[in-house]
Amino acid sequence: MGAYSETYRRSLADPEGFWLDAARAIDWAKPPTRALDASAEPFYRWFPDGELNTAYNALDRHADGGRGAQPALIWDSPVTGQKRRYTYSELRDEVAVFAGALTSLGVTRGDRVILYLPMIPEAVIAMLACARIGAVHSVVFGGFAPKELAARIEDAKPKLVIAASCGIEPTRVVEYKPIIDAALATTEHQPEHVVVLQREQAGAELSGTDLDWDDLVESALPVDPVPVKATDPLYILYTSGTTGKPKGVVRDAGGHAVALAWSMGAIYDVHAGDVWWTASDVGWVVGHSYIVYAPLLVGATTVLYEGKPVGTPDAGAFWRVISEHGVQALFTAPTALRAVKKIDPDAAELKKYDLTGFRALFLAGERLDPETYHWAGDKLGTPVIDHWWQTETGWPIAANPRGLEPMPVKPGSATKPVPGWDVHVLDQNGAELPAGQEGAITLKLPLPPGSLTTLWGADERYREAYLSRYPGHYLTGDSGYLDEDGYLFVMGRTDDVINVAGHRLSTGSMEAVLASHPAVAECAVIGVADQLKGQVPRGFVVLKAGADVAEEQLREELVALVRRDIGPVAAFREVSVVEALPKTRSGKILRKTMRGIADGRDEPVPSTIEDVAVLDALRAVLRG
Ligand code: COA
Ligand code: AMP
Repeated sequence: MGAYSETYRRSLADPEGFWLDAARAIDWAKPPTRALDASAEPFYRWFPDGELNTAYNALDRHADGGRGAQPALIWDSPVTGQKRRYTYSELRDEVAVFAGALTSLGVTRGDRVILYLPMIPEAVIAMLACARIGAVHSVVFGGFAPKELAARIEDAKPKLVIAASCGIEPTRVVEYKPIIDAALATTEHQPEHVVVLQREQAGAELSGTDLDWDDLVESALPVDPVPVKATDPLYILYTSGTTGKPKGVVRDAGGHAVALAWSMGAIYDVHAGDVWWTASDVGWVVGHSYIVYAPLLVGATTVLYEGKPVGTPDAGAFWRVISEHGVQALFTAPTALRAVKKIDPDAAELKKYDLTGFRALFLAGERLDPETYHWAGDKLGTPVIDHWWQTETGWPIAANPRGLEPMPVKPGSATKPVPGWDVHVLDQNGAELPAGQEGAITLKLPLPPGSLTTLWGADERYREAYLSRYPGHYLTGDSGYLDEDGYLFVMGRTDDVINVAGHRLSTGSMEAVLASHPAVAECAVIGVADQLKGQVPRGFVVLKAGADVAEEQLREELVALVRRDIGPVAAFREVSVVEALPKTRSGKILRKTMRGIADGRDEPVPSTIEDVAVLDALRAVLRG
């Protein structure tokens, strides 16, 4: 049996032994004697009697264990023209002091802290400082509007909000403080302070209980890491669900550290001393796991990039960073490569840089289309690895495990289930589907360490959203199939979640925004295929009888509303006024059929349709 098959088999046959072995890669304040606690099933807990500190494992043990002078973090920011390096000792010291600053404000174990920070070292420092004192961070992506930020503040009830004065987009400086003030003007919950890191590109006006990051740090003393229970929450990360209300994915401390450390070696083949770069954002799970925690847990050097794949300044930006910092492996979203390919199809920029040390490209966040796969492989001459996972799982479910046993790639497939994940493809009735047949991808419980333990303050919602559809299984929300060799092909979501340029968004929440417009009687938003972004949202609205508004003006208002209430990241630009929406006789909008038509597929007309003429009219609009 090959290394992969044997490891996979053991992970499912003997999870206890498998994960206790993996747990040895972590320094525990109190080593766990057991791996899985199923006593509160389906709320499984990992390493129930273990205690640790994640920031200690990410920093101190390397700083004090011979890696003190090795770079831990390299910040490269083409949008500001700045670069900065932190050794493990330096990063540990900065984190210890900021943790002291948090402590001086009364933040203690279990308190929540919202971080609204762009791609700057202070984002990593603030995350790890929370972890150091057992506080629970919740990072909010900078592209979200005040309303989205407010929803997260209301749910997490943070003691503090920590922010920068601004984020920098290629076309504009985004001032954060007005966004925070607007959010806090609407929330019942008020944090005790907003701590602001002033950036020179745009300062923020502080008032009342607002605090300046630098002032706070100046008077702070470093604090030691606080051991927490392995089952304590490390962070909450909100993600889009099918409704407008974001889901607060809860990650525990122990399972997370063990799983991420294991994944770094087994999947990515990245080890202590290697230079690793994840081009994503700390606001997403990819950033949490693979910009911040995993590379530091294993003693690698992580690159933090504040820029875009193109336009900062050109389509050679990624190659420049790889060559300049000696990056051995890069993880990004396919959309980033499509952006590069669009501008520089022959990859002429690539020839300007020395990439001899570069070993592999990992892609996730959305489906890797075979064209992009081939392009990247041809141009880079290195393995290009698609892998599939989601915010909830925290680390890859299916991948080509390069550190265990590299396998032949099948374009369009994320390769095989990763050890720990018991992947199934089920039909409507919960029956296992044979190879080649597409169905709902589920994960048999218990999920391995590192996956979500629940939704913040919403155990029932967790159960309802993920565990109720197929008893004994976790519903991923993705559909796909396993082929005869056990390769997994992930085809798309079965719910209202869409992926726009690797950003996960809910069409349900966009519909809620459209429906709030006084002229709109009914609406639907679907994700349609897009060459660059993978998917983009497209809206359809039916006007209220007698609504007196010009179509063009209405369209503009609706686009502006989505931008105001969800944020620019929604990339909502297209909305059509239609006479009616296609529905079943029981009144359900036929979104799947609409998606199929929009993507140019020959979609069969559902037998349950109420009025075929409506579908024909929509087809004309979509193909128009
Ligand atoms: N703060 C504020 N605004 C943000 C933002 C942030 N952190 N990130 C994006 N936005 C804004 C952009 O400025 C843009 O605004 P605009 O409508 O005024 O132009 C809008 O949100 C859409 O941004 P984006 O999705 O970045 O699209 P783009 O057309 O500017 O760029 C890509 C396209 C492909 C270059 C870009 O999406 C990209 O780099 N994607 C990488 C994907 C990624 O990292 N995904 C994370 C999961 S792995
Ligand atoms: P997020 O929670 O933001 O990481 O988004 C997770 C969702 O993105 C998954 O449920 C999939 O729908 C999609 N996704 C992520 N990676 C892949 C991949 N490699 N192939 C196909 N879809 C993917």
